[in-house]
Amino acid sequence: MKNILGVFNGKFQDLDKIKVSPLSRAYTFSDSVYEVIPFYNNKIIAFEKHINRLSNSCDALNIKSNISLCSDEILHLISTSKLKNGYVYYQISRGVDALRSHIYDTSLEVETFGYIVDYQFESKDLKVSLCEDIRWQRCDIKSTSLLGNVMSMNQSKNNHCDEVIMHKDGELTEGGASNVFFVIEGNIYTPSLSSNILPGITRELLISESNKNGIYIEEGKYSVNDLLQAESIWLTSSTKCLGQVIEIIGYETKIELNNEVFQKCNKIFKNAFLSGQLNNNII
Ligand SMILES: Cc1ncc(COP(=O)(O)O)c(C=O)c1O
Repeated sequence: MKNILGVFNGKFQDLDKIKVSPLSRAYTFSDSVYEVIPFYNNKIIAFEKHINRLSNSCDALNIKSNISLCSDEILHLISTSKLKNGYVYYQISRGVDALRSHIYDTSLEVETFGYIVDYQFESKDLKVSLCEDIRWQRCDIKSTSLLGNVMSMNQSKNNHCDEVIMHKDGELTEGGASNVFFVIEGNIYTPSLSSNILPGITRELLISESNKNGIYIEEGKYSVNDLLQAESIWLTSSTKCLGQVIEIIGYETKIELNNEVFQKCNKIFKNAFLSGQLNNNII
């Protein structure tokens, strides 16, 4: 952890110097929200969208944060680092309780924590498994309560997979740490937003950039059976960008590697990403 720059409650220091109270509600209840904010070529990707989602997550849990201070800290982490490409992990917790109690004291001081990571963005091919979505019913909040995702993704890893695609009683929701898109007969589909899905920023950017280029992506309710008919499937996230699914273990699929529609969408997204069009903040 040496030399990884972090910030804890406004103080910038190396990660290994940061000390956290065992009574932090982030520690006892996962009573916290977070963001992963990518930057490429010294430019932050969709900064405003990440900050808005962080603010929405705080509002949903009634965590009273100073979002403009948090966004200044994120900018400071990036501008003081020598990194060109990477991401900032930033977390806001309700704070430290005098005693562990489910009922929180509304006067707690929020606790903030962030750090910066050197990261090279590249699309990887992904082998995935399918599983029942065992998570809670507010997956639209980007909270650190991620045990359902952790369990499913590790089970998937034990089956030599890179990711998992989840469904609730056969209806597709999302990936373990990503949103899902698929193509049938040239048409692109993605599950519509609901309380069971994180409103992914890469998902949103891909839909709007594709639209600008005359490619329409349909949002709706889709089943595992629909997915298994797909000629192309990909997952999106701030760190994965677009990752093409090459195999769903245990299932026969119709997946064509480097499918033409996938390649078009990937090119549109990459061009926007690399050219700086997705950046609304220049450091
Ligand atoms: C459960 C889940 N869905 C979707 C996403 C993709 O979101 P974004 O594109 O904003 O990174 C993530 C990212 O970590 C995630 O954890």
